[in-house]
Amino acid sequence: MPPALRDETHLSSTGVCKFRGKMTANQAFDTLWINCHLATMAGSDPYGIVRNGALAARAGRIAWIGAMNELAGDPLSRSASVEDLGGAWITPGFIDCHTHLVYAGNRASEFELRLKGASYTEIARAGGGILSTVRAVRAATEDEIYAQSLPRLEAMMADGVTTLEIKSGYGLDTANEVKLLKVIRRLAEDTPLTILPTFLGAHTIPPEFKGRGDAYVQVVIEEMLPEIARRRLVSAVDGFCENIGFTLSQTRRILEAARAHGLSVKLHAEQLSDKKGAAMAASYRALSVDHLEYLATDDIPALVEGGCVAVLLPGAFYYLNETRKPPVDALRQAGVPMAVSTDANPGTSPVLSIRSMMNMACVLFGLTPAEALAGVTVNAARALGRQDDIGTLEIGKAADLAVWDVETPAELAYQLGGRPLRLLVKNGREVIASQSLRPGE
Ligand code: NIG
Ligand code: FE
Repeated sequence: MPPALRDETHLSSTGVCKFRGKMTANQAFDTLWINCHLATMAGSDPYGIVRNGALAARAGRIAWIGAMNELAGDPLSRSASVEDLGGAWITPGFIDCHTHLVYAGNRASEFELRLKGASYTEIARAGGGILSTVRAVRAATEDEIYAQSLPRLEAMMADGVTTLEIKSGYGLDTANEVKLLKVIRRLAEDTPLTILPTFLGAHTIPPEFKGRGDAYVQVVIEEMLPEIARRRLVSAVDGFCENIGFTLSQTRRILEAARAHGLSVKLHAEQLSDKKGAAMAASYRALSVDHLEYLATDDIPALVEGGCVAVLLPGAFYYLNETRKPPVDALRQAGVPMAVSTDANPGTSPVLSIRSMMNMACVLFGLTPAEALAGVTVNAARALGRQDDIGTLEIGKAADLAVWDVETPAELAYQLGGRPLRLLVKNGREVIASQSLRPGE
């Protein structure tokens, strides 16, 4: 066995139900998954492949990774639980780094309007769009929003997600933004997922401030942000820099205030037009700049300089029938890490499947399947500032694993639909077991 086995004192049970090995005094692992292939997303080839391998977890972390033939001695004696995966693939648990998953109601009627020719901008200017969800959120109780949001989270998990970011932004006053953030916190407490909350008070100008954007920005900065920071409800702040959102200088003030509170920043930038938001956010060392269909290639060096991840959101591109694509080739050439996310929201991207976003990132934006997988693992971790903890299969990182019934990792981006997820493991514990019917088992 390689020297990677660190001597940790507490061998707490992971609660994994299958106990197949015998426990011995020299037991080293809580769980050992054997006979699998690993897309570690670390190392020299694009997937970081380890074929015919095994992975062990202890105390919620990855304790060993290697080829089966490197497993010295009797593996059953080394682990409280040993699970034979029969050739399945393990990837890091997926990370959805940009969602608006917590809201009330839906906007299927706007979907119908858009299909008849109305644009997203026209609907927003007429008081619909984000504002229709704001009305639904303000009218709903915390419990109602929680009840509507939980099944969306469960759907995300069924597609391999173990960590996700969720933004506020449909309350647009202190009480209602806090209400959304409290729902997000409850979901984090009640589910096995890691959920990173983001404050998006600058999503759009609420009706009571119509025509008074600067006054609303002042409320965001002087009232909402201090209260939300005081309650420690978020780790990051986002904004919507756009004609139907906030100007560049308004957005700058919000990001500056967020940094002054010690919060990370990120930005919806260049989604519908080139407002120069991405380069501005990069100057505040934004974790990520997101959407980017209208990003000018001249602004890419600023993203490199700021160490930003480019988050691609093909669901919004698809639903809005957008034709202008983010400058993927130029981002790739410049070495900007690209993440892929659902943007799950009731308007521009009512999507609960991160695998379908991997597919669309390939078909619509020209990513390779390996880039799409990196987009929901290693690069998404970086977009959340969590690259030291999650996003790759490496010793010492969280044992967040998705186990797939596929023959190659490219299938994860290739197929739409289906239920290839066999197991979802969060911090070493199985949280979803097989979703497929296996006669005889
Ligand atoms: O990422 N662009 C702003 N925010 C969302 C849309 C939210 C909505 O329409 O409800 C987005 O596309
Ligand atoms: Fe968004």
